[in-house]
Amino acid sequence: MIFETHAHYDDEAFESDRETLLKSIKENGVGRIINVCASLESLEKTKKLMESFPFIYGAFGLHPDETGDLDEDVMNRIRLLCREEKAVAVGEIGLDYYWDKEQHKRQIYWFERQMELAREEKLPIIVHSRDAAADTLDTMKRVHAEEIGGVCHCFSYPKEIAREYINMGFYLGIGGVVTFNNAKKLKEVVAYAPLDRILLETDSPYLSPVPYRGKRNSSLNLPYIAQMISEIKEIDYEEVIAVTEKNAEKLFIGENL
Ligand code: NI
Repeated sequence: MIFETHAHYDDEAFESDRETLLKSIKENGVGRIINVCASLESLEKTKKLMESFPFIYGAFGLHPDETGDLDEDVMNRIRLLCREEKAVAVGEIGLDYYWDKEQHKRQIYWFERQMELAREEKLPIIVHSRDAAADTLDTMKRVHAEEIGGVCHCFSYPKEIAREYINMGFYLGIGGVVTFNNAKKLKEVVAYAPLDRILLETDSPYLSPVPYRGKRNSSLNLPYIAQMISEIKEIDYEEVIAVTEKNAEKLFIGENL
């Protein structure tokens, strides 16, 4: 079944139909979901989702845009959440220079700290990196992220950067953007990356694939992403689903489950 490695079901965009939607997810072919924290409020909400739905797992951490909310107390809360049974990653963490032109040092500091937390808690990381390719890789190399492992989510950089992540043993999270007509570079990345380095994700409620571009996204749209990957790589759709599921199990769940 499809393994959704990145969604935000705590988002208010799902306020009206969250229960109904999540209850229909298995009959629509999605076996497991990782709900990824971004903001301070999402920490407890993700824990609740994880407890309410057996197929939902949690990633705990603060998004680079939210690092103004981070202090030692919050770090301790994240650490305790990482020890929950179904906590599978630290994330999403990283660098985002798209909006933030001033707080780069603060972002780098908390990115490092959260990576160290992942190392200590023996969890992989879910990396968010936007308009910050060089600094993200520099920071990851400095803390030896190759020993921690993880995924660069919503991968949006060219092939040369993909190679760096793959060489560090990281996975590339591929989402709805790959279906966009103008996503030439990302299609090249998908053609280049071995299937055993690719994870499926939506980043719901954001980044809906074609034909729903601009609308609210949900994990029910993952087949459009898998279909595009199968076309680019000229392999069976079923193979994309099966291999990416195995990849996610290996990274997040452990091979004995
Ligand atoms: Ni996200």
